[in-house]
Amino acid sequence: MSMIGRHLLGINGLTREQVEYLLTTAEQFVEVSTRNVKKVPTLRGKTVINLFLEASTRTRSSFEIAGKRMSADVVNVSGSSSSTTKGETLIDTALTLESMDPDVVVIRHASSGAAHLIAKHLTRASVINAGDGLHEHPSQALLDALTMRQAFGTIEGLTVTIVGDVLRSRVARSNIHLLRLFGCSVRVVAPPTLAKKAEFEALGCQVFYHMPEALEGADVVMSLRMKHEYLKDLFVPNLDEYSRKYIVSEPMLARYAPNCKVLAPGPIIRGTEITSEVADGPRSLISRQVTNGVAVRMALLYVLGARRSDAARERDEEIEPLGLEAEASS
Ligand code: CP
Repeated sequence: MSMIGRHLLGINGLTREQVEYLLTTAEQFVEVSTRNVKKVPTLRGKTVINLFLEASTRTRSSFEIAGKRMSADVVNVSGSSSSTTKGETLIDTALTLESMDPDVVVIRHASSGAAHLIAKHLTRASVINAGDGLHEHPSQALLDALTMRQAFGTIEGLTVTIVGDVLRSRVARSNIHLLRLFGCSVRVVAPPTLAKKAEFEALGCQVFYHMPEALEGADVVMSLRMKHEYLKDLFVPNLDEYSRKYIVSEPMLARYAPNCKVLAPGPIIRGTEITSEVADGPRSLISRQVTNGVAVRMALLYVLGARRSDAARERDEEIEPLGLEAEASS
Protein backbone atom coordinates (compact mmCIF):
# COMPACT_ATOMS: atom_id res chain seq x y z
CA MET A 1 0.00 0.00 0.00
CA SER A 2 1.39 3.42 -0.88
CA MET A 3 1.71 6.31 1.56
CA ILE A 4 -1.65 7.63 0.33
CA GLY A 5 -3.47 4.31 -0.04
CA ARG A 6 -4.36 2.53 -3.27
CA HIS A 7 -6.27 5.33 -5.02
CA LEU A 8 -6.35 9.12 -5.15
CA LEU A 9 -10.04 10.00 -5.30
CA GLY A 10 -10.03 13.35 -3.53
CA ILE A 11 -8.18 15.64 -1.16
CA ASN A 12 -10.94 15.24 1.43
CA GLY A 13 -9.74 12.45 3.70
CA LEU A 14 -6.01 13.00 3.11
CA THR A 15 -3.88 14.15 6.03
CA ARG A 16 -1.57 17.12 5.95
CA GLU A 17 1.40 14.70 6.11
CA GLN A 18 0.15 12.85 3.02
CA VAL A 19 -0.24 16.12 1.10
CA GLU A 20 3.25 17.24 2.17
CA TYR A 21 4.66 13.90 1.05
CA LEU A 22 3.06 14.29 -2.40
CA LEU A 23 4.29 17.87 -2.75
CA THR A 24 7.83 16.94 -1.71
CA THR A 25 7.80 14.02 -4.16
CA ALA A 26 6.53 16.38 -6.89
CA GLU A 27 9.41 18.80 -6.20
CA GLN A 28 11.82 16.07 -7.26
CA PHE A 29 10.00 15.69 -10.54
CA VAL A 30 10.09 19.46 -11.08
CA GLU A 31 13.86 19.03 -11.19
CA VAL A 32 13.59 16.09 -13.62
CA SER A 33 11.43 18.24 -15.89
CA THR A 34 14.16 20.89 -16.16
CA ARG A 35 16.72 18.39 -17.49
CA ASN A 36 17.73 18.26 -21.12
CA VAL A 37 16.62 14.62 -21.22
CA LYS A 38 13.42 14.44 -19.19
CA LYS A 39 12.80 10.71 -19.35
CA VAL A 40 13.46 8.49 -16.32
CA PRO A 41 13.01 4.71 -16.17
CA THR A 42 10.96 4.72 -12.94
CA LEU A 43 7.77 3.21 -14.37
CA ARG A 44 9.25 1.09 -17.14
CA GLY A 45 6.96 -1.88 -17.70
CA LYS A 46 3.98 -0.17 -16.05
CA THR A 47 0.81 0.73 -17.91
CA VAL A 48 -1.25 3.88 -17.38
CA ILE A 49 -4.68 4.28 -18.97
CA ASN A 50 -6.07 7.81 -19.26
CA LEU A 51 -9.84 7.39 -19.46
CA PHE A 52 -11.10 10.87 -20.27
CA LEU A 53 -14.86 10.85 -20.78
CA GLU A 54 -15.10 14.64 -20.49
CA ALA A 55 -13.15 17.35 -22.34
CA SER A 56 -9.70 18.31 -21.04
CA THR A 57 -6.56 19.96 -22.37
CA ARG A 58 -4.29 20.48 -19.38
CA THR A 59 -5.06 17.45 -17.23
CA ARG A 60 -5.17 14.85 -20.00
CA SER A 61 -2.01 16.03 -21.76
CA SER A 62 -0.07 16.42 -18.51
CA PHE A 63 -0.98 12.92 -17.31
CA GLU A 64 0.14 11.63 -20.71
CA ILE A 65 3.42 13.55 -20.61
CA ALA A 66 3.95 12.52 -16.97
CA GLY A 67 3.50 8.83 -17.80
CA LYS A 68 5.80 9.04 -20.81
CA ARG A 69 8.48 10.91 -18.86
CA MET A 70 8.39 8.05 -16.35
CA SER A 71 8.76 5.48 -19.20
CA ALA A 72 5.30 3.96 -18.56
CA ASP A 73 3.21 2.70 -21.46
CA VAL A 74 0.41 5.25 -21.75
CA VAL A 75 -2.93 4.59 -23.43
CA ASN A 76 -5.48 7.36 -23.94
CA VAL A 77 -9.18 6.57 -24.20
CA SER A 78 -11.50 9.51 -24.88
CA GLY A 79 -15.27 9.74 -24.67
CA SER A 80 -15.90 10.29 -28.36
CA SER A 81 -13.74 7.35 -29.45
CA SER A 82 -14.72 4.87 -26.72
CA SER A 83 -17.45 2.25 -26.71
CA THR A 84 -19.35 4.31 -24.15
CA THR A 85 -20.82 5.98 -27.29
CA LYS A 86 -22.35 2.57 -28.12
CA GLY A 87 -24.00 2.29 -24.72
CA GLU A 88 -21.34 0.50 -22.69
CA THR A 89 -21.59 1.45 -19.02
CA LEU A 90 -18.78 3.10 -17.11
CA ILE A 91 -18.36 -0.01 -14.95
CA ASP A 92 -18.12 -2.31 -17.98
CA THR A 93 -15.67 0.06 -19.63
CA ALA A 94 -13.51 0.12 -16.51
CA LEU A 95 -13.62 -3.68 -16.08
CA THR A 96 -12.73 -4.12 -19.76
CA LEU A 97 -9.73 -1.87 -19.34
CA GLU A 98 -8.67 -3.64 -16.14
CA SER A 99 -8.64 -6.94 -18.03
CA MET A 100 -5.62 -5.50 -19.88
CA ASP A 101 -3.85 -5.24 -16.51
CA PRO A 102 -3.04 -1.53 -16.24
CA ASP A 103 -1.29 -0.34 -13.11
CA VAL A 104 -3.10 2.99 -12.97
CA VAL A 105 -6.39 4.20 -14.46
CA VAL A 106 -6.77 7.99 -14.57
CA ILE A 107 -10.39 9.01 -14.98
CA ARG A 108 -12.11 12.27 -15.86
CA HIS A 109 -15.90 12.12 -15.90
CA ALA A 110 -18.79 14.59 -15.84
CA SER A 111 -20.54 12.71 -13.03
CA SER A 112 -19.65 13.29 -9.39
CA GLY A 113 -18.60 9.99 -7.85
CA ALA A 114 -17.46 8.35 -11.12
CA ALA A 115 -13.92 7.82 -9.83
CA HIS A 116 -15.22 6.27 -6.58
CA LEU A 117 -17.50 4.00 -8.58
CA ILE A 118 -14.74 2.51 -10.70
CA ALA A 119 -12.37 2.31 -7.72
CA LYS A 120 -14.99 0.14 -6.02
CA HIS A 121 -15.10 -2.26 -8.97
CA LEU A 122 -11.42 -2.47 -9.95
CA THR A 123 -9.54 -5.09 -7.99
CA ARG A 124 -5.94 -4.46 -9.06
CA ALA A 125 -5.37 -1.05 -10.70
CA SER A 126 -5.02 2.20 -8.80
CA VAL A 127 -7.51 4.91 -9.72
CA ILE A 128 -6.68 8.61 -9.92
CA ASN A 129 -9.55 11.08 -10.05
CA ALA A 130 -8.75 13.63 -12.77
CA GLY A 131 -11.97 15.56 -12.08
CA ASP A 132 -15.43 14.15 -11.42
CA GLY A 133 -18.42 16.39 -11.96
CA LEU A 134 -18.87 18.92 -9.18
CA HIS A 135 -17.02 16.80 -6.65
CA GLU A 136 -13.19 16.95 -6.64
CA HIS A 137 -10.12 17.54 -8.79
CA PRO A 138 -7.32 16.50 -6.42
CA SER A 139 -4.34 16.69 -8.78
CA GLN A 140 -5.32 20.29 -9.62
CA ALA A 141 -5.37 21.23 -5.92
CA LEU A 142 -1.96 19.60 -5.46
CA LEU A 143 -0.42 21.50 -8.36
CA ASP A 144 -1.99 24.72 -7.07
CA ALA A 145 -0.49 24.01 -3.64
CA LEU A 146 2.92 23.30 -5.14
CA THR A 147 2.73 26.58 -7.07
CA MET A 148 1.80 28.51 -3.91
CA ARG A 149 4.54 26.80 -1.91
CA GLN A 150 7.12 27.76 -4.54
CA ALA A 151 5.90 31.39 -4.60
CA PHE A 152 5.62 31.93 -0.83
CA GLY A 153 7.98 29.32 0.63
CA THR A 154 5.06 27.81 2.57
CA ILE A 155 1.31 27.36 2.26
CA GLU A 156 0.86 27.66 6.01
CA GLY A 157 -1.44 30.52 6.99
CA LEU A 158 -1.92 32.07 3.54
CA THR A 159 -5.05 34.07 2.82
CA VAL A 160 -6.56 32.72 -0.39
CA THR A 161 -9.54 34.32 -2.13
CA ILE A 162 -11.39 32.15 -4.63
CA VAL A 163 -13.39 34.26 -7.06
CA GLY A 164 -16.24 33.06 -9.27
CA ASP A 165 -18.31 29.97 -9.84
CA VAL A 166 -17.46 28.07 -6.66
CA LEU A 167 -20.84 26.32 -6.71
CA ARG A 168 -19.96 24.24 -9.78
CA SER A 169 -16.22 24.03 -9.14
CA ARG A 170 -14.55 20.76 -8.17
CA VAL A 171 -11.27 22.72 -8.20
CA ALA A 172 -12.58 25.03 -5.47
CA ARG A 173 -13.71 22.07 -3.33
CA SER A 174 -10.36 20.25 -3.59
CA ASN A 175 -8.47 23.47 -2.92
CA ILE A 176 -10.58 24.32 0.11
CA HIS A 177 -9.97 20.87 1.64
CA LEU A 178 -6.24 21.16 1.04
CA LEU A 179 -5.81 24.77 2.16
CA ARG A 180 -7.75 24.15 5.38
CA LEU A 181 -5.26 21.37 6.25
CA PHE A 182 -2.57 24.08 6.27
CA GLY A 183 -4.46 26.59 8.37
CA CYS A 184 -5.12 28.94 5.46
CA SER A 185 -7.81 31.55 5.61
CA VAL A 186 -10.00 30.71 2.61
CA ARG A 187 -12.49 33.24 1.27
CA VAL A 188 -14.94 32.66 -1.55
CA VAL A 189 -16.56 35.53 -3.44
CA ALA A 190 -19.34 35.23 -6.00
CA PRO A 191 -22.95 36.25 -6.56
CA PRO A 192 -25.22 34.75 -3.86
CA THR A 193 -26.59 32.20 -6.36
CA LEU A 194 -23.08 30.77 -6.83
CA ALA A 195 -21.80 30.81 -3.24
CA LYS A 196 -24.26 29.33 -0.78
CA LYS A 197 -23.24 30.69 2.61
CA ALA A 198 -24.10 27.56 4.61
CA GLU A 199 -22.31 25.18 2.21
CA PHE A 200 -19.04 27.08 2.13
CA GLU A 201 -19.04 28.07 5.79
CA ALA A 202 -19.43 24.38 6.61
CA LEU A 203 -16.19 23.82 4.65
CA GLY A 204 -14.44 26.42 6.80
CA CYS A 205 -14.55 29.35 4.33
CA GLN A 206 -15.63 32.93 4.71
CA VAL A 207 -18.26 33.86 2.12
CA PHE A 208 -18.36 37.28 0.47
CA TYR A 209 -20.57 38.80 -2.19
CA HIS A 210 -18.45 41.91 -2.89
CA MET A 211 -14.91 41.92 -4.22
CA PRO A 212 -13.25 44.67 -2.11
CA GLU A 213 -13.72 42.98 1.27
CA ALA A 214 -12.97 39.53 -0.18
CA LEU A 215 -9.71 40.74 -1.73
CA GLU A 216 -8.49 42.87 1.19
CA GLY A 217 -4.96 41.71 2.03
CA ALA A 218 -5.20 38.40 0.14
CA ASP A 219 -1.94 36.60 -0.63
CA VAL A 220 -3.47 34.56 -3.44
CA VAL A 221 -6.43 35.25 -5.72
CA MET A 222 -7.74 32.25 -7.58
CA SER A 223 -9.96 33.00 -10.58
CA LEU A 224 -12.57 30.44 -11.65
CA ARG A 225 -14.53 30.38 -14.86
CA MET A 226 -18.29 29.97 -15.20
CA LYS A 227 -18.91 26.25 -15.67
CA HIS A 228 -21.80 26.53 -18.11
CA GLU A 229 -21.48 22.84 -19.00
CA TYR A 230 -22.99 21.89 -15.61
CA LEU A 231 -26.53 22.63 -14.46
CA LYS A 232 -27.68 24.65 -17.42
CA ASP A 233 -29.85 26.97 -15.29
CA LEU A 234 -28.65 30.53 -15.34
CA PHE A 235 -27.05 31.46 -12.07
CA VAL A 236 -26.35 35.05 -13.07
CA PRO A 237 -28.78 37.31 -14.98
CA ASN A 238 -26.17 38.12 -17.60
CA LEU A 239 -22.44 37.67 -17.98
CA ASP A 240 -21.70 41.36 -18.62
CA GLU A 241 -23.21 42.29 -15.30
CA TYR A 242 -21.33 39.42 -13.60
CA SER A 243 -18.07 40.60 -15.15
CA ARG A 244 -18.52 44.18 -14.05
CA LYS A 245 -18.69 43.02 -10.42
CA TYR A 246 -16.43 39.96 -10.28
CA ILE A 247 -13.78 40.14 -12.99
CA VAL A 248 -10.25 39.88 -11.57
CA SER A 249 -8.65 43.11 -12.79
CA GLU A 250 -5.38 44.88 -12.08
CA PRO A 251 -6.88 48.12 -10.66
CA MET A 252 -8.92 46.07 -8.17
CA LEU A 253 -5.92 43.92 -7.14
CA ALA A 254 -3.57 46.92 -6.92
CA ARG A 255 -6.01 48.64 -4.58
CA TYR A 256 -7.07 45.77 -2.28
CA ALA A 257 -4.43 43.04 -2.55
CA PRO A 258 -1.33 44.77 -3.91
CA ASN A 259 1.07 41.91 -3.13
CA CYS A 260 -1.11 39.03 -4.26
CA LYS A 261 -0.31 36.33 -6.78
CA VAL A 262 -2.98 35.11 -9.16
CA LEU A 263 -3.82 31.50 -9.99
CA ALA A 264 -6.41 30.08 -12.37
CA PRO A 265 -6.97 26.39 -13.07
CA GLY A 266 -7.97 27.19 -16.64
CA PRO A 267 -9.34 27.30 -19.12
CA ILE A 268 -9.38 31.06 -18.58
CA ILE A 269 -12.04 33.18 -20.22
CA ARG A 270 -10.38 36.52 -20.80
CA GLY A 271 -12.57 39.57 -20.38
CA THR A 272 -15.25 37.72 -18.41
CA GLU A 273 -13.51 36.25 -15.37
CA ILE A 274 -10.00 37.70 -15.64
CA THR A 275 -8.42 40.51 -17.66
CA SER A 276 -5.47 39.85 -19.96
CA GLU A 277 -3.52 42.45 -17.98
CA VAL A 278 -3.71 40.15 -14.94
CA ALA A 279 -3.50 36.79 -16.75
CA ASP A 280 -0.34 37.83 -18.62
CA GLY A 281 1.08 40.14 -15.95
CA PRO A 282 3.71 39.72 -13.25
CA ARG A 283 1.25 38.47 -10.61
CA SER A 284 0.15 35.58 -12.75
CA LEU A 285 1.32 32.06 -11.88
CA ILE A 286 -0.95 30.44 -14.45
CA SER A 287 1.83 29.11 -16.71
CA ARG A 288 3.73 27.90 -13.66
CA GLN A 289 0.63 25.96 -12.58
CA VAL A 290 0.52 24.16 -15.93
CA THR A 291 4.24 23.33 -15.74
CA ASN A 292 3.84 22.05 -12.17
CA GLY A 293 0.92 19.92 -13.33
CA VAL A 294 3.33 17.54 -15.07
CA ALA A 295 5.54 17.16 -11.97
CA VAL A 296 2.56 16.59 -9.67
CA ARG A 297 1.14 13.95 -12.00
CA MET A 298 4.56 12.28 -12.27
CA ALA A 299 4.57 12.11 -8.46
CA LEU A 300 1.09 10.58 -8.37
CA LEU A 301 1.93 7.99 -11.01
CA TYR A 302 5.14 7.18 -9.14
CA VAL A 303 3.43 6.81 -5.76
CA LEU A 304 0.47 4.81 -7.06
CA GLY A 305 2.09 3.09 -10.07
CA ALA A 306 5.05 1.80 -8.10
CA ARG A 307 2.60 0.53 -5.46
CA ARG A 308 1.94 -2.64 -7.42
CA SER A 309 5.58 -3.56 -7.64
CA ASP A 310 5.60 -6.01 -4.77
CA ALA A 311 2.36 -7.75 -5.69
CA ALA A 312 3.31 -7.88 -9.36
CA ARG A 313 6.76 -9.22 -8.52
CA GLU A 314 5.30 -11.99 -6.38
CA ARG A 315 2.91 -12.92 -9.17
CA ASP A 316 5.63 -12.82 -11.81
CA GLU A 317 7.79 -15.14 -9.76
CA GLU A 318 5.05 -17.77 -9.92
CA ILE A 319 5.19 -17.77 -13.70
CA GLU A 320 7.59 -20.06 -15.52
CA PRO A 321 10.10 -18.07 -17.58
CA LEU A 322 8.98 -17.97 -21.21
CA GLY A 323 12.53 -18.32 -22.49
CA LEU A 324 12.35 -15.22 -24.63
CA GLU A 325 15.80 -13.96 -23.66
CA ALA A 326 18.31 -13.85 -26.48
CA GLU A 327 20.37 -17.03 -26.49
CA ALA A 328 23.95 -16.59 -25.34
CA SER A 329 26.30 -17.14 -28.24
CA SER A 330 28.45 -20.18 -27.79
N1 CP B 1 -7.67 22.69 -15.03
C1 CP B 1 -8.19 21.70 -15.79
O1 CP B 1 -8.70 20.69 -15.29
O2 CP B 1 -8.10 21.95 -17.13
P1 CP B 1 -8.55 20.92 -18.26
O3 CP B 1 -10.06 20.82 -18.19
O4 CP B 1 -8.08 21.53 -19.55
O5 CP B 1 -7.94 19.60 -17.97
